[in-house]
Amino acid sequence: MRSFMGRDILSLKDFERQEFFRVFEIAEQLEPIARSRRNADLLKEKILVTAFYQPSTRTRLAHEAAMIRLGGQVTGFADAKMTRAGDFYQESIKDTVKMLEFYGDVIVMRHFQQGAPHEAAKWASIPVINGGDGWGEHPTQILTDLYTVLREKGRIDGLRWLAVGDMRMRTMHSLAYGLTQFDCPITFVSPPEMSLTEEFKAEIEDYSLDYKEAEHVEQAIAEADVILVEPVVQPDYTKSRDERTGELDLTPANYKITRELLTTKAKSDAILLHSLPRMDEIPTDVDITRWSRYWQEAFNGVVMRMALLALILGAME
Ligand code: CP
Repeated sequence: MRSFMGRDILSLKDFERQEFFRVFEIAEQLEPIARSRRNADLLKEKILVTAFYQPSTRTRLAHEAAMIRLGGQVTGFADAKMTRAGDFYQESIKDTVKMLEFYGDVIVMRHFQQGAPHEAAKWASIPVINGGDGWGEHPTQILTDLYTVLREKGRIDGLRWLAVGDMRMRTMHSLAYGLTQFDCPITFVSPPEMSLTEEFKAEIEDYSLDYKEAEHVEQAIAEADVILVEPVVQPDYTKSRDERTGELDLTPANYKITRELLTTKAKSDAILLHSLPRMDEIPTDVDITRWSRYWQEAFNGVVMRMALLALILGAME
């Protein structure tokens, strides 16, 4: 297995099966630190640089919380408009990261352009973590989700997944790549205009992912052990900022997980994941059902980033 020390985390396409399990093992070891809300000193001499060119609540703050929990420090920006990349100069990724590499020891970048963190990694002498790039990928979110499944169900192999939402989403791409390393059949349910592209399907078929597509959640929910939901009422992920204008559409029943649907059709021990933010695809009365695991997912988001930072920065091998 390759060492994680000094490694960029850009895509789950790069991840081997044993590497997933190594990350999960480290996450489990570090989890008590987060659970007991104390800070350790594992990364006390390290600095995380956050470079967020697109809004985020969870990804940026979970990385920051993870760094602080491990005794490290954090610097960076949450609004590129207040940097030279977002004003008159439109400073390039290369010129920006050639500065950032002197301000810290690892960069986490979110960008509206697909491939921007990869471009950053090409120039930076310190590791780069992809915190979501356009419609591209969101590897740390799906590592969090897989870890949540492992913790909640005790295994990953042998579980059937249902993924509902916009298949152009970066999480869906990382999910499909990630599941190629496990024995996990998956059904994708999305509006036709948001379905998996032919090019992406060819790629995941090449990686032997066992998948099918369905039109309505009702056709697939009964056999699912893990239900992962994303919105179909979405902003444009290729924009730095997509302000809400006018009336919003409501989520059609085909892509909605309601309490009634779970009660009447889902397996009793299935688990429901949503990386959040949500629109109306999971009504809030689902939150207190036994299926929901999105708050556990949020906690695990910090734990997963602790594991990744510790591995990348060489504090754990
Ligand atoms: N799940 C997720 O990526 O959330 P944020 O956009 O708030 O980071």
